[in-house]
Amino acid sequence: MKKNRIYNFNPGPAALPLSVLEEIKESFLNLNGTGMSITEISHRSKDFESILDDAISRTKRLLNLDDRFHVLFCQSGASMQFCMIPMNLLREGKSADYVNTGTWSEKAIKEARIQGKKIKVVASSEDRDYSYIPQNIQFSGDAEYVHITSNNTIKGTQWPAFPDTKGIPLIADMSSDMMSRPFDAKPFGLFYAGAQKNLGPAGVCMVVIRNDMLERVPDNLPTMLKYTIFSEKKSLYNTPPCVAIYAVHLVLKWLEETIGGLEKMAEINRKKAELIYSTIDAGGFYRGTATPGSRSKMNVTFRLPNENLEKQFIQEALDNDLGGLKGHRSVGGCRASLYNAVSLSAVEALTDFMKNFERKNG
Ligand SMILES: Cc1ncc(COP(=O)(O)O)c(C=O)c1O
Repeated sequence: MKKNRIYNFNPGPAALPLSVLEEIKESFLNLNGTGMSITEISHRSKDFESILDDAISRTKRLLNLDDRFHVLFCQSGASMQFCMIPMNLLREGKSADYVNTGTWSEKAIKEARIQGKKIKVVASSEDRDYSYIPQNIQFSGDAEYVHITSNNTIKGTQWPAFPDTKGIPLIADMSSDMMSRPFDAKPFGLFYAGAQKNLGPAGVCMVVIRNDMLERVPDNLPTMLKYTIFSEKKSLYNTPPCVAIYAVHLVLKWLEETIGGLEKMAEINRKKAELIYSTIDAGGFYRGTATPGSRSKMNVTFRLPNENLEKQFIQEALDNDLGGLKGHRSVGGCRASLYNAVSLSAVEALTDFMKNFERKNG
């Protein structure tokens, strides 16, 4: 039983900035002097609309998006995007390129195939257990879009730079690295992220879509599966997940006003990742599973000499108030997720623990 908050390295749902949690707690019974909770006000009220507008404009500022981009808040997680993307954007008789870098890419590929859509897997890192990001990929000149997973939460790899698709719209699942670093959005037709890692609580998926992609959306789709409905109705066709959007807006405010934007966030994230990877690389005790050059700054995956030591490491870490270090159930091992809200001091505490554990057990 923990009485105090611990250092949280969960992969998602994951750590949120303490100041955001405190603000939610403060305002939970009485939002901005309405006398009501965010859970109790109408999604059509001025109060909620200003929260939604604020979340949209902060996203645009943080990501430096021009007027062609629309910020949507969808439901059913990032997993729903795996099906909505081909349904909305892959037109009859055409084909799309997918890059397979692990479980989440595979799921995106599966959902396109279920619909009988024509897709081509143009590169895969399956041959080496998804431990790297493929380079020098030949894209099909006539692809409708290229789909990638920018950060692979389970295997601990991340695209160091996005591929040049020579004008073909890029689409990225950014669930586990959205808002962790600045990037040029211009080549992107769409990018999306389930909120529960870097953006807020579970229950909402942020989708950023470019104007020209909206023109592809066929008329004969179910209403709630059409990007055009979300953009025309500003994500208010039906009742949106108000509480999750409220929390996302606070996280974005924290990113802009407390951290100072994505350049600054990326610098902090770089320091955190460097610290832990240098600890892993220092001796022969820990072994990073991702190839250097493809290593993720968000999810650091590593092994110990054997599974018993891994179990002991995870338990002793928790005893020392360092939680969420178990690797994904499909791969085992250990994983430290270093999302934006995980502070440098949390990573310092973890690396101190790792060094001590190595001294005792190495
Ligand atoms: C990269 C990536 N994509 C997609 C998902 C699935 O997200 P959701 O649970 O929101 O559907 C996850 C979940 O961990 C993820 O890490």
